[in-house]
Amino acid sequence: MDSTFRKLKLVLALVGIITWIIGTCNAKFTPADNYLVNCGSTVDATVGQRVFVADNSQSIVLTTPQSQSIAARTTLNSVSGFDNAELFQTARIFTAPSSYSFKMRSSGRHFVRLYFFPFLYQSYDLASSKFKVSTEDVVLIDNFPQPSNSISVVMEYSLNITRDRLILTFVPEGNSTSFVNAIEVVSVPDDLITDSAQLLGVGQYLGLAAQPLQTFHRINVGGPKVTAENDTLARTWFADQSFFRNPTVAQAVTYQERLNYKDGSATQDDAPDSVYNTARRLVGQRNASSTPNMTWEFNVDGRSSYLIRFHFCDIVSKAAFQLYFDVYVYNFSAAKDLDLSASEFGTLAAPFYMDIVLPSSDPSGNLTVSIGPSSLPNATPDGILNGLEIMKMNFSSGSVYVVKPPSAAKQQLPIILGSVLGGIGAVIIVVVLCVVFRRKKKMKKPQTPLTSRPSSSWTPLSLNALSFLSTGTRTTSRTTYTSGTNSDTSYRIPFVVLQEATNHFDEQMVIGVGGFGKVYKAVLQDSTKVAVKRGNQKSHQGIREFRTEIELLSGLRHRHLVSLIGYCDERNEMILVYEYMEKGTLKGHLYGGDQPPLSWKKRLEICIGAARGLHYLHTGFAKSIIHRDVKSANILLDENLMAKVSDFGLSKTGPEFDQTHVSTAVKGSFGYLDPEYYRRQKLTDKSDVYSFGVVLLEVICARPVIDPTLPRDMINLAEWAIKWQKRGELDQIIDKRIAGTIRPESLRKYGETVEKCLAEYGVERPTMGDVLWNLEFVLQLQEAGPDMSNIDSMNQISELPSNAQRISSLEISTADESRTAMDYSQMSTSNAFSQLINTEGR
Ligand SMILES: *[C@@H]1O[C@H](CO)[C@@H](O)[C@H](O)[C@H]1NC(C)=O
Ligand SMILES: *[C@@H]1O[C@H](CO)[C@@H](O)[C@H](O)[C@H]1NC(C)=O
Ligand SMILES: *[C@@H]1O[C@H](CO)[C@@H](O)[C@H](O)[C@H]1NC(C)=O
Ligand SMILES: *[C@@H]1O[C@H](CO)[C@@H](O)[C@H](O)[C@H]1NC(C)=O
Ligand SMILES: *[C@@H]1O[C@H](CO)[C@@H](O)[C@H](O)[C@H]1NC(C)=O
Ligand SMILES: *[C@@H]1O[C@H](CO)[C@@H](O)[C@H](O)[C@H]1NC(C)=O
Ligand SMILES: *[C@@H]1O[C@H](CO)[C@@H](O)[C@H](O)[C@H]1NC(C)=O
Ligand SMILES: *[C@@H]1O[C@H](CO)[C@@H](O)[C@H](O)[C@H]1NC(C)=O
Repeated sequence: MDSTFRKLKLVLALVGIITWIIGTCNAKFTPADNYLVNCGSTVDATVGQRVFVADNSQSIVLTTPQSQSIAARTTLNSVSGFDNAELFQTARIFTAPSSYSFKMRSSGRHFVRLYFFPFLYQSYDLASSKFKVSTEDVVLIDNFPQPSNSISVVMEYSLNITRDRLILTFVPEGNSTSFVNAIEVVSVPDDLITDSAQLLGVGQYLGLAAQPLQTFHRINVGGPKVTAENDTLARTWFADQSFFRNPTVAQAVTYQERLNYKDGSATQDDAPDSVYNTARRLVGQRNASSTPNMTWEFNVDGRSSYLIRFHFCDIVSKAAFQLYFDVYVYNFSAAKDLDLSASEFGTLAAPFYMDIVLPSSDPSGNLTVSIGPSSLPNATPDGILNGLEIMKMNFSSGSVYVVKPPSAAKQQLPIILGSVLGGIGAVIIVVVLCVVFRRKKKMKKPQTPLTSRPSSSWTPLSLNALSFLSTGTRTTSRTTYTSGTNSDTSYRIPFVVLQEATNHFDEQMVIGVGGFGKVYKAVLQDSTKVAVKRGNQKSHQGIREFRTEIELLSGLRHRHLVSLIGYCDERNEMILVYEYMEKGTLKGHLYGGDQPPLSWKKRLEICIGAARGLHYLHTGFAKSIIHRDVKSANILLDENLMAKVSDFGLSKTGPEFDQTHVSTAVKGSFGYLDPEYYRRQKLTDKSDVYSFGVVLLEVICARPVIDPTLPRDMINLAEWAIKWQKRGELDQIIDKRIAGTIRPESLRKYGETVEKCLAEYGVERPTMGDVLWNLEFVLQLQEAGPDMSNIDSMNQISELPSNAQRISSLEISTADESRTAMDYSQMSTSNAFSQLINTEGR
């Protein structure tokens, strides 16, 4: 009997030791990924035990050619008065979209912390910075600055990263800048966030494992602030005073003894001892109904769902099964008659946490959490709370923006690990024991968690795919460019988002069908209307046009060009998402539909808008961009009937960057094609001018450019109308519905402009800029009547020499010459109808 007792004691002692070792093991969680970056600095910064590595020597900064990356240091001698002051002394500033790229060693949950302190540096006032921060999957900050009263902010996100690289992209808004002072990307134990949680009200919420979270509040109830150094996962726990509403009803309690961490429950990684061994306890009255609740109130974003984690540890009871209380979120019950010792198998001082998902918060933006007495008949009025975390679940549904390394797969980026691995030898024994006594809640440990020095072969990365927009002079000889197979900088939208927005590509939402595929009207979560063009996956030819459009449009922003909002290339999809153009195509308003006729003035304004868009394409960049498919179906109208040019799938910039025969075939839409382009295979921006001239005829005549039902000489609008114009009788064939409203001077000038646009040779045609001036003059003639002084000045302007240097000529390879010549120049209009129908409405 006695020996049995002694044996039992021994076993108990052993269990104690093992428990202690396991406890130690948990405390020594070693993150597989541990990037600590001191941005914009030349020296490392040591904060407690952690070393934030200067980013100037690292290849983790990716910029586009347009972006400057500026290392800034505040002129304040010392930024003091807040935590981690060293980190806030320097910042990296970007003037255009730029990224930090981190190679991930382990897949799973990571803390991503972003430090911001907006100081003044030279001409950059960081306080006026406006920007967006996103990963490839989620928008972290949609609109910096967030409303916040503090001067410095640390934003913390908990992301399940399954990609092999985390790319954090900073996108300045307009001509603003973006900046960041420090970045942390650190692995956390996989089981920190489990997949399910109780849904407030009733039921379980599943799917937390993949859920991105943003920490909104993290408080240590009844205790002091716990800084990152005293937390195994470098979290900061704020004191709760400023959130606590009714101090008189509660007392702060502190526990001095050892906490009883239980297997399968909270660990020291869930919250440190210093959170569990302090609490607030309800001051019990004799009578439960006269004991008030204790309540905390938090300011949150009232449109989101939240994951609320309550940390409890019964550090007040003298015996088990005596403490019962109720937990509320707002006035909804989150737990009734909660008995901590029951959750902890009759053990006192055992840390425990409870997750609640709050499906929708109060729009007022105030979230309240209360602890109140249990209404059980025998229960003493009591209650306790040790810590609380409030994590936002909804992120901006806006599109993510990615600046990627040129070839993400091949480029091996060096890994930086903070120097956390001191005294490895001493730890090894514990680690071995840990492996032996691995708990059911296992921690993912890296196999070889060794630091690697930044590789010496590092070269700064830049995005060559965009360089054609910002660099390059006219190239006369053939240059082989690599085809832009990876669209390096674009707004990428997850497929599921588009699926939802289009109601699973509901046929009812189709607003257009073309050779490329179908166009759907869609509404994003933030209720932005968009047009979703879903490429036909079978069409191989589409891939090139898809890429071209992304590359071109993502670099272009203009009032009169349809903006690309994003794209999706997941699951072999080719989806382009544009701003939604409420009023459809110009073509739809001219003929064939039931639209009321547009007034002459409105038509002119639309033509002027479109001309501005094209003029910008031709001259806005070092190298002219040729649209190649100007037609009335590609001029879209917004709700105010403002014109925007769309469909850049065929666009070319200067010399070819893809030498395959497909790309060199004459493309465009029949009826609008520049005859010089298809006869001589010479593509210049004057080809767009020709096509635009045809559009001008469509606008005034309100008929299709090719109408096979008409007598032979009338089939081709351009050929037919120009004959009338040359005879000075354009007025005979114009849209009868508006003919009486057009002033003769206005019509005369318009006819002349059209005629110039349709000149046989490109050199004889005006530039898009001249066309624009002429159309503005036409509008003026219509509005104000003739005014001689005006005519002189306008003529002068239209007489300005065309900007010949800008014309980038593009020779089509001789190999294709015979083919294209056969395809097009020999073709009579009558046998080209089937071709036309196929390309129509692309
Ligand atoms: C660009 O910056 C100037 C001042 O520097 C400001 O006046 C202008 O509005 C800004 N433009 C945009 C598009 O933000
Ligand atoms: C991360 O998400 C994936 C699914 O996307 C899931 O399989 C995995 O368990 C998650 N990891 C963690 C640590 O939650
Ligand atoms: C960490 O905790 C210890 C003891 O609880 C305390 O003395 C120390 O000041 C804390 N350090 C920080 C940085 O909070
Ligand atoms: C408990 O409180 C209620 C209302 O405040 C009161 O009516 C009742 O008498 C109280 N009971 C005792 C035992 O004090
Ligand atoms: C505590 O709060 C809940 C929810 O608001 C409420 O139903 C309950 O009556 C309150 N209890 C006390 C004693 O005030
Ligand atoms: C409490 O809940 C009731 C409905 O049960 C609701 O009418 C009331 O507005 C809520 N009070 C607060 C403060 O949320
Ligand atoms: C929300 O909180 C603010 C201050 O935190 C307070 O002024 C306001 O009255 C609160 N609103 C509600 C509905 O409780
Ligand atoms: C927030 O997220 C939840 C769950 O993911 C979703 O049901 C809810 O509609 C979202 N709310 C908003 C405003 O997006």
